[in-house]
Amino acid sequence: MNRLPQLLIALLTLCLLTASTGFARETTADQPLIIDFNERFLPVVARHGMVVGPEQLATEIGSRILQQGGNVVDAAVATGFALAVTYPRAGNLGGGGFMLIHLAEGNRQLFIDYRETAPAAASRDMFLLPDGKEDLMREYFSLQASGVPGTVAGMLYALETYGSMSRQQVLAPAIALAEEGIAVSFALNYELATGGQRLRDDPESLRLFFKPDGIPYEIGDTWRQPDLAWTLRQIADQGAEAFYRGEIAQRIVAAMEAGNGLITRQDLADYRAIERPPVRGHFREFEVVSAPPPSSGGVHILQILNMLEADNLVALGHNSAAYLHLLAESMKLAYADRSQYLADPDYFDVPVAQLTDKAYAARQRKLIDPGRATPSTTIAPGRELHARSKDTTHYSVADAKGNMVSNTYTLNASFGSAIAVPGTGKLLNNEMGDFAAVPGKPNLFGLVQGESNRIEGGKRPLSSMSPTIVYRQGKPWLATGSPGGSRIITTVLQTLLNAMVFDMNVAAAGINARIHHQWLPDEILAEDGISPDTVRLLEQMGHKVVLGGRTIGRTESIMIRDGWLLGATDTRRPGGWVAGY
Ligand code: GLY
Repeated sequence: MNRLPQLLIALLTLCLLTASTGFARETTADQPLIIDFNERFLPVVARHGMVVGPEQLATEIGSRILQQGGNVVDAAVATGFALAVTYPRAGNLGGGGFMLIHLAEGNRQLFIDYRETAPAAASRDMFLLPDGKEDLMREYFSLQASGVPGTVAGMLYALETYGSMSRQQVLAPAIALAEEGIAVSFALNYELATGGQRLRDDPESLRLFFKPDGIPYEIGDTWRQPDLAWTLRQIADQGAEAFYRGEIAQRIVAAMEAGNGLITRQDLADYRAIERPPVRGHFREFEVVSAPPPSSGGVHILQILNMLEADNLVALGHNSAAYLHLLAESMKLAYADRSQYLADPDYFDVPVAQLTDKAYAARQRKLIDPGRATPSTTIAPGRELHARSKDTTHYSVADAKGNMVSNTYTLNASFGSAIAVPGTGKLLNNEMGDFAAVPGKPNLFGLVQGESNRIEGGKRPLSSMSPTIVYRQGKPWLATGSPGGSRIITTVLQTLLNAMVFDMNVAAAGINARIHHQWLPDEILAEDGISPDTVRLLEQMGHKVVLGGRTIGRTESIMIRDGWLLGATDTRRPGGWVAGY
């Protein structure tokens, strides 16, 4: 028998492991991994456990937790707390998110909603100026921009309910990073020097994130965060109580009272992470499990997949004009529904079953003209989705037994509101901007936003975050997710289609060029990599195409194949890492 292919595979595996973790370990794979060496993008391979995320140190911490015998939830929680130290643009204690867990034992899927809530005193028109326009500075960059943070409650709920390690064990690495300091990476320097400029407007953020002379930390500098270490230690010692009722809560409330913020001691004490059933649906041989409301992500990913299910997408050709036309038209229909029917399910009766129904999708599919773009204004009367600049982050965790975690969390904008709570080292989110600030009235673009997502005290703002796990023939196969605000949904959708339909490996599925259409504005955003010929064909069909400019999303994905873990961090942003062993 010719053993060359297997030798090549073993060699490749060794190289990839060495590259990602700094050491190699004998594998116990019972089946060889077949890699197609003709593919332009290859994943990192590991055998036992893997974490893929936006930053190296936190990702390696998650992988080490797995090596120490922790389960995937322990690793996800340790990574989440570590990212709060190493990746301040989106890693957080002061924000919120969603965690989707697959437990091999019992074949269970759990979804933890730790989205922020509006403070009780928040009200429908709170961001409106006397002339009816939005007060954007207050909505995004004031203490009133913050919802009640959910991250600490969510992470600790996950740990206590599904983890196996103690709080002290999973928080210790993050505390050490904050206390001892981290070497500033290229990515961190870049993020602080560019996206972090607004941090200078808040004296506490200026003190925390810049050197005493006000300039950004340089690459290789040691950046210590003693206040954040104190906060993390409080959480390790006292649990969620410290954050929601104890000394940290007192500091948050003191900042709110001093700065016209709305979050009270009662708001913090009332905060709960909620376990909800994830949304799920079938696409051919795959089952897709994803985020339910208050995320719109899972619903619309399933809705669009349903619309595309009967089409021979392979025959159309990956990223051909005919394929992208079909994608864009399906996206338009889904995002039109988003503006009307999606919101916090505890405040609005979201018709999840109807929106993800195959018969509904078949009716919607008939609305798509194969040769002509349908103007968005004829799909439904004008309601526009908030699509301002958003930042968020995703990471995926898996082990060889098939346990997986797909976690997306956020401060909303990069560095959130850019306001830090004095004495805690932590930034506050600006998630209130994800509500419709001007429901029923024309917004900045002359269009009207959905009433279902209006601001109400205690409510969770509508999200697009879409942590997703796909099952192939009943087995966990792909965990993925992305940042990108309204573009998260279309990013995850195309990553799934690339893997499920076009048979791409996990790296290629995340890296190939993407498009985005969100119904309004009526335009396709297309990344570099969509050919100008294709763009011309789309324009001939009546599409407005905006080519180039910003990239769309950034996936962090793990695929399990034949017991091997294949990981890929999207190269659209710097600093991502795959840590496996
Ligand atoms: N803040 C981004 C999202 O939740 O969609």
